[in-house]
Amino acid sequence: MENKYNVGELIYDGNIYDGMNIEIADLPFYSRWFDKKMNGSILELCCGTGRLTIPLTQEGYNITGVDNNTSMLKQATGKANELKIPTRFIESDIRCLDLSEVYDIIFIPFNSIHHLYTNKDFFKVLINVKKHLKKDGYFIFDCFNPNIHYIINSEKEEKIIANFSTKDGRKVVIKQTMIYENKTQINRIKWHYFINGEFDSIQNMDMRLFFPKELDAYLSIHGFKIINKFGGFEEEAFENKSEKQIFVCKKEY
Ligand SMILES: C[S@@+](CC[C@H](N)C(=O)[O-])C[C@H]1O[C@@H](n2cnc3c(N)ncnc32)[C@H](O)[C@@H]1O
Repeated sequence: MENKYNVGELIYDGNIYDGMNIEIADLPFYSRWFDKKMNGSILELCCGTGRLTIPLTQEGYNITGVDNNTSMLKQATGKANELKIPTRFIESDIRCLDLSEVYDIIFIPFNSIHHLYTNKDFFKVLINVKKHLKKDGYFIFDCFNPNIHYIINSEKEEKIIANFSTKDGRKVVIKQTMIYENKTQINRIKWHYFINGEFDSIQNMDMRLFFPKELDAYLSIHGFKIINKFGGFEEEAFENKSEKQIFVCKKEY
């Protein structure tokens, strides 16, 4: 990824991440699709703190998680060990992934592709997914459907987007501001952290937006056939007002 775009350290501090991200509304969706390849091997790219990896492994799926952030993986391993769950986590950048196995399912959940800031980065990942996916395997991922109205309104105001406590005892409030770059399609989000009532720091949360038609085209150009494109985790059809783009793909060649 280009140095000028990044995600601040506090955002991917494992403890803070887990304090903030307690929702698992996407879990039943992934679980339903994993059932279709019962006993298959599954690779999760950008697994983070194991928010999904751990409960899905508890459900009996055989998942390997990959992430490039040491703090997130430390948190994931700590939680898995505490629960005595046999998980496998690998530290690697998914743009240069090179594992010796191929998988029945590869998934990239929770908007993680927004951290692939250039087309070159995203295409490297598509090539790596193809290399590690079995012939009939599924490639599943989710991201936002860019909402221009939301961006325009959010650019106008600073607002509180989170207020939570971490397991290690920090009270965290986050205020958000953003400026969208038309040229790069990168939403330059800033999270203003207040910890235990005191201003702490401003952290970047840069997110590359992917418009629906461009994603469809990128997948097709890289040899993926879109089996389903949903607008939400209840498998609603993807439409104008959908908040999400959720793809289920197979290899076309
Ligand atoms: C939004 S979090 C999602 C974490 C987890 N999948 C979840 O569902 O909670 C995005 C994750 O992507 C990881 N990440 C971002 N860019 C990456 C890259 N190039 N290679 C590997 N991991 C990356 C970050 O470290 C972070 O843990």
